[in-house]
Formats: sequence, C-alpha cells, structure tokens
Amino acid sequence: MVYLVGVLNQMNMLTAKEIALVKKSWLTIRKTDPLIISNEFYGKLFYDNPELRKMFPQSMEGQYGKLIDMLNTIIERLEKLDDLKGDIFQMANRHVNYGVMPEHYNMVGKALLWTLQKNLGNEWNAELRTAWVNCYAVLSGTMIAVTAR
Ligand code: HEM
Repeated sequence: MVYLVGVLNQMNMLTAKEIALVKKSWLTIRKTDPLIISNEFYGKLFYDNPELRKMFPQSMEGQYGKLIDMLNTIIERLEKLDDLKGDIFQMANRHVNYGVMPEHYNMVGKALLWTLQKNLGNEWNAELRTAWVNCYAVLSGTMIAVTAR
C-alpha cells in the first residue's frame, strides 16, 4: 500500500511550467502527419536497438497510430494524470505481456527525444528538453513501478 502511494505521488511531479512547455510543443508535433512522426520514431528505435524489432508485429502499420494516440491522451491530461492512472496501469501490464523489460524504457525515451528534437526545429532548447525528459520519466517510471511488484 505504501508502495502504491509512492507510485501515485510520482505521477504529479511535473511543474506547471514543464506541463505548459510539453503541451505547447506537442501542438507543433501534431501539425505533422502522425504516420511520419511514428515512422521516424520506430525507425530510430529499431536502428539503434535492432533487437527490439522482433517484439513488434511484422507489419508496423497498426502500431503507428497507437503510440501517438496514447501520447495525445496522456499529454492532454498531464495536469491531472491521476484520472488516467487506471489506463496507465493496464497499459503497463500489457507491456509486460509484450516482453517489455524496465531497461527498454530508456531506449524508447531516447528515440522519442530524438524524434521530438528533429521535428521541433527552433522550438527545441535545453529547457524544453528537460521538460520532456521529466515528463517521460514520470510516465515510464510509473509504468515500470507498477509492473515491478
Ligand atoms: C511511456 C512509454 C510507452 C507508451 C506510452 C507506449 C504505448 C503503447 C501503446 C498505446 C501500445 C498499443 C497497445 C497497447 O495499448 O497495449 C503499445 C504497444 C506496444 N509497445 Fe509500447 N509504449 C511505451 C513503451 C514501450 C517500451 C519501452 C517498449 C519496449 C520496446 C514497448 C513495446 C511495445 C510493444 C512490443 C507493443 C505491442 C505491439 C503489438 O504486438 O501490437 N512500448 N505501446
């Protein structure tokens, strides 16, 4: 129980400024076709970590929209992530069934930051990077903690 309270608190660790920065930059990302963003993201993920490719279906088409849709949902509700904790917990458990291990989250985080930087151009700076690093840390930390029980 104490452990679960820790997980829930972790979901509120972003500052208002960080939330605003992530949301604003996400609006820019959304102006680009999600298929292009996803293609770049998975391209980078599999180029850097070819061993991960076999965890995913042969055809990635169905996968492309799912990650962006989920990020949309999460980023829209960043200031009240508690509302989403049930969804995030279930998603974390599904990931265990896909064979995802805690160390894989760092690989996905790097590919995500790379994709964001590539598409945000002049908007990208150290402050925005920190906001995204913290945002992904909260999300991935929650997913890892839920399944590490
Ligand atoms: C914050 C991090 C992540 C988010 C938001 C996320 C999101 C998603 C979503 C929305 C799906 C669609 C299916 C579902 O909801 O269960 C999915 C599937 C999947 N994800 Fe993730 N994911 C994350 C991290 C990871 C990591 C670290 C890996 C490890 C490589 C991974 C591997 C997979 C795989 C293998 C599938 C299933 C593909 C399939 O069989 O259709 N994900 N992910």
